[in-house]
Amino acid sequence: MIGISDFMQICLSHPSEGYYIKSEVFGKDGDFTTAPEISQMFGEIIGLWLVDAIDKMPASDDYNIIELGPGRGTLMADILRSMAKFKSKYKLNIHMVELSPKLVQMQREKLASFEGQITWHENLDGLKTSINSSPCLFVANEFFDALPISQYEFLDGAWYERMVGVKDGKIGPTLSMQAAKVALPNILKDRAVDGAIFEQSPASLFYLGKIIEVLKRNGGVALIIDYGHDGHGFGDSLQAVKAHKYAKIFKNLGKQDITAHVNFTSLKEAANAQNIMASTVVSQAEFLGDLAIGLRAQMLISKNPEQEMQIAQALNRLIGEDEMGNLFKVLCLHNCEFTPVGFGLE
Ligand SMILES: C[S@@+](CC[C@H](N)C(=O)[O-])C[C@H]1O[C@@H](n2cnc3c(N)ncnc32)[C@H](O)[C@@H]1O
Repeated sequence: MIGISDFMQICLSHPSEGYYIKSEVFGKDGDFTTAPEISQMFGEIIGLWLVDAIDKMPASDDYNIIELGPGRGTLMADILRSMAKFKSKYKLNIHMVELSPKLVQMQREKLASFEGQITWHENLDGLKTSINSSPCLFVANEFFDALPISQYEFLDGAWYERMVGVKDGKIGPTLSMQAAKVALPNILKDRAVDGAIFEQSPASLFYLGKIIEVLKRNGGVALIIDYGHDGHGFGDSLQAVKAHKYAKIFKNLGKQDITAHVNFTSLKEAANAQNIMASTVVSQAEFLGDLAIGLRAQMLISKNPEQEMQIAQALNRLIGEDEMGNLFKVLCLHNCEFTPVGFGLE
């Protein structure tokens, strides 16, 4: 038997059979579409956000832009195109943290015109030693949802880890025989009833710890965008997606995406515990709306009137209440005194 966390890790990133290593992940022929793949507007707005952040940070000759889990490289391409519109005296060093050699290849092709400016890293372990000491700006879109979680189930007054085992030749869910010690957030203590599920993501906190180490040493900000919730609670958010539809978690191992909702409260609390400041968590609709995505859509439509319908549809997918607008949340972490735009503060 293995825990859900090891199961996710193997299914998603096994060196030869893992989903991100082997499968066609993105787009119409893949399994899901992310915000940057829906429209260039998403990356352009993030580019503007980064320009504003750099303006508000202590001056430096250069800045490190670090993207976590850059997928096909579309977000970084749109970010760099949009940042280039602002004449600046500083230099950008681009760092891409990507585990999949296949996706690294796609990113290299998409960003070929920036060759020499970009360094790739397989994980965050070596990042701190391989970047210079200039301020850092992290961007992570749909990165944390891909990191493994552990799940615990409450039964007869005790917590048991949810495991994956083999019964009658079939892989499926089961429970650990031994009760586990679970450190519940104060707000959930004494509130569990039989069948309650509690999720934790030690992998997310590990990665967050690496980001925080760099922010503390270099100074800077981290922009985290993902689907998830702000507030601790019980519930099972593990899900599998194949060909743009929800799928059975224990089927098609390594051939479908498995993710979990991101607990933004636990990211904020972990950052605060290390003296890193956290913004309020806002919805993607609020964030993109604050940064005038509606205006950008109008500009694109006036330049490409024949594409009015596609641009309006893309805008709706990004900010519509029943689309990504509410489900996706945005959080900014920073170690400098800084009021990030997009969080309703300005
Ligand atoms: C859901 S995709 C998001 C892609 C991209 N950010 C976008 O918005 O289109 C997750 C990305 O994270 C990468 N990834 C997942 N786990 C990772 C890990 N532990 N270390 C580095 N990259 C990882 C995947 O290979 C993929 O590029």
